[in-house]
Amino acid sequence: MAVWIYGVFLLISSCLCYKPVVLIHGVMTGSGSMEMISHRIQEKHPNTTVYNCNRFENWSSLENMWHQVLEIGQDVANISAQHPEGINLIGYSQGGLIARGIVQTFPNVSVSTFISLSSPQAGQYGAGFLHLVFPGLVKESAYELFYSRVGQHTSVGNYWNDPYHQTLYETYSVYLPYINNHIASAKTTDFKTNLLRLKRFVLIGGPDDNVITPWQSSQFGYYDANETVIKMQDQPIYKEDKIGLKELDKNGKLHVVTVPGINHFNWHMNVSIVDDYLLPYLD
Ligand SMILES: *[C@@H]1O[C@H](CO)[C@@H](O)[C@H](O)[C@H]1NC(C)=O
Ligand SMILES: *[C@@H]1O[C@H](CO)[C@@H](O)[C@H](O)[C@H]1NC(C)=O
Ligand SMILES: *[C@@H]1O[C@H](CO)[C@@H](O)[C@H](O)[C@H]1NC(C)=O
Ligand SMILES: *[C@@H]1O[C@H](CO)[C@@H](O)[C@H](O)[C@H]1NC(C)=O
Ligand SMILES: *[C@@H]1O[C@H](CO)[C@@H](O)[C@H](O)[C@H]1NC(C)=O
Ligand SMILES: *[C@@H]1O[C@H](CO)[C@@H](O)[C@H](O)[C@H]1NC(C)=O
Repeated sequence: MAVWIYGVFLLISSCLCYKPVVLIHGVMTGSGSMEMISHRIQEKHPNTTVYNCNRFENWSSLENMWHQVLEIGQDVANISAQHPEGINLIGYSQGGLIARGIVQTFPNVSVSTFISLSSPQAGQYGAGFLHLVFPGLVKESAYELFYSRVGQHTSVGNYWNDPYHQTLYETYSVYLPYINNHIASAKTTDFKTNLLRLKRFVLIGGPDDNVITPWQSSQFGYYDANETVIKMQDQPIYKEDKIGLKELDKNGKLHVVTVPGINHFNWHMNVSIVDDYLLPYLD
């Protein structure tokens, strides 16, 4: 009887208590690209409120990362204030790196599950996808553009991570080395404390992505000085626990998910990705 009552209670609570979800789109696109995910969540988890960020769409998505983090972050803080039970956050591609910046910067954003869907969390060193925006750009010389004051006005410049020009990266990049606590700042402690408030941090990526380069960047793996990929667990950011990844992992809160066979432009278009890899993590 008690079990039965408990069972009913669980059933009721699991129907009515899905937390609201905030979606953040990728570069050179907008909220429209996240509609399938939004609809599927609402279909499978009825009554979930989904907020689909429509700021910085299309060309505006190239504005610098801090500007986007601070503006979208104010929206997310407002949403979070309306939902004291916490929210879930899903960022696709560049949106996942904006989302991480928000989680690490805003103490008044309370995220339960944060899903990073094929995002360049450790940086990007591949220019194929940029040819529409920067024709003729090749990865070997892109640092000349991105590692400059002007280049840092672009989002991509803010997470461009050229393994052969690390001193310039550290000198010019105003975003990635800071939120990674690779360079110490007044915010170093906050960046880590805030990330550690997550209940679940899910890193999704895969070897057939063909845009995120190396694809392991979606899971905090990255190139060494010879373009050999070093996995997250052997990176200083993890070994020295600079932002809390190791502690989250130790506490069973870090989920590293590798899905082969998915091209970068399909993660957010493939309904079985939502069913198999997003919905199971949403509470
Ligand atoms: C959805 O919300 C409505 C109104 O609050 C409620 O009547 C209904 O039972 C909910 N459906 C589910 C599946 O939780
Ligand atoms: C961005 O592009 C999409 C697709 O072309 C369009 O529907 C949307 O209105 C654009 N958004 C803005 C803010 O221009
Ligand atoms: C956040 O909410 C406050 C109070 O409701 C409102 O004044 C403000 O404009 C909102 N900010 C954003 C970015 O939506
Ligand atoms: C959240 O915190 C930021 C700065 O930390 C502040 O600017 C903003 O007004 C706060 N928003 C809410 C809704 O509390
Ligand atoms: C890169 O390769 C060269 C030649 O094989 C080697 O001497 C050097 O130690 C390597 N550097 C790193 C960082 O692995
Ligand atoms: C969609 O995702 C599933 C894995 O969940 C995969 O088997 C399938 O090939 C994908 N389809 C496309 C078009 O990428």
